[in-house]
Amino acid sequence: MNVLVVGGGGREHALVMKIHESEKVDKIYCAPGNGGISRYAECFSDIKATDIEGVVELAKKVSADLVVVAPDDPLVLGMVDALNKEGFATFGPNKAAAIIEGSKVFSKDLMKKYNIPTAEYNVFASAIEAVNFIKEKNEYPTVIKADGLALGKGVIIAQNFEEAEDAVKSIMEDKIFGASGSKIVVEEFLTGPEVSVLCFTDGKTLKPMISSMDHKRALDGDQGLNTGGMGTVAPNPYYTDKVAEECMKTIFRPTIEAMNNEGRTFKGCLYFGLMITPKGPKVIEYNCRFGDPETQVVLPLLDTDIIDIMMAIYDDKLDTVNVRWKNESAACVVMASGGYPKKYETGKEISGLDAKGQVSGAFVYHAGTKYDDGKFLTAGGRVLNVTATGKTLKEALDQSYSCVKKISFENHHFRTDIGARALAAEDQ
Ligand code: AMP
Ligand code: GLY
Repeated sequence: MNVLVVGGGGREHALVMKIHESEKVDKIYCAPGNGGISRYAECFSDIKATDIEGVVELAKKVSADLVVVAPDDPLVLGMVDALNKEGFATFGPNKAAAIIEGSKVFSKDLMKKYNIPTAEYNVFASAIEAVNFIKEKNEYPTVIKADGLALGKGVIIAQNFEEAEDAVKSIMEDKIFGASGSKIVVEEFLTGPEVSVLCFTDGKTLKPMISSMDHKRALDGDQGLNTGGMGTVAPNPYYTDKVAEECMKTIFRPTIEAMNNEGRTFKGCLYFGLMITPKGPKVIEYNCRFGDPETQVVLPLLDTDIIDIMMAIYDDKLDTVNVRWKNESAACVVMASGGYPKKYETGKEISGLDAKGQVSGAFVYHAGTKYDDGKFLTAGGRVLNVTATGKTLKEALDQSYSCVKKISFENHHFRTDIGARALAAEDQ
């Protein structure tokens, strides 16, 4: 089989490596890919992940037997529909289903209509009405979300009225998140540990993957700005069997059925961002795709051929596949460019990597690198995802951090406390 993967970050590198393990696969292509991915797949770096026409043409050129669309924006734009129209098998939801991530107003209204537990909320299309509502309610912190995709940054948690007013104005009037800010959701602030659960689904059968925990803030101790994710661990100790059972009953199955009912059957990987609140698990967000960097810790623990799973989903027979997981833990530490998530420089030479962009003892998924004349250069905010597995979480974390020390580039930074909260929770 020839498989084309769309995207170019650490998540796509993890997908490429899992696909690479399959005996059914002859050749892997990736658009645009990155320096690390180019060591395992043929990359087409001038085709952007959002270039629907370009990707359809590429799928024809490489005779793709399966196209895996990984990022949110091409899914929300309808890349899967365009590929299916040309007869290509795909992994990822169509446009009608991807709206579950593409519009927060859609997803909140869906949860309300089908009684799926989530934070209380109100939707506003006018800044004045939103501000008046917040003033009247007078409860802080309050959560303000732009309706559309905002590169994972469309959420502001306001601690008082001034911050809330600023947030509403900057989203709706200054359009800091672009067109995604023409409507906003004002939401109740929830508390509790967060859990990410990615699920394989064909719209009938639902198979949750191993749970994981993201670390979104830039600095140790969950300080600093929100980022795309500075590290992950799997499994997540807060996701106990009891919580899993409750999520299946009150959240996962109802969501799949709600989407079917709305004529928006979801096929692919549905990501549930959950908060385990004192009143039980609630949905913080849905993503219509694999999470990044959750995928980097989840897929190494998958013990079933991913091509079998993806093709079964495409053919609506996920029920026939036995999805197995290794009884191990995984940890991923993100090495980022100095300044990220604000301004940072690129083009720094990375030392410590071998010809494949790897070190011994861990797998280095490349998130933002370029391969140039035998060297790896930084090409993004998040640069490398150093990932190790182990019999225990402690073992995986120690291994991952000892490999981080072997790698260097100017001004690099990483969190030193990835997994610390999970380890403490394990001991409870
Ligand atoms: P998101 O960009 O949707 O992933 O949200 C970013 C982060 O904001 C989440 O991971 C949570 O930590 C936080 N968050 C979002 N919604 C809420 C909420 N209703 N209550 C508390 N925290 C929230
Ligand atoms: N790690 C969160 C996300 O992929 O959106």
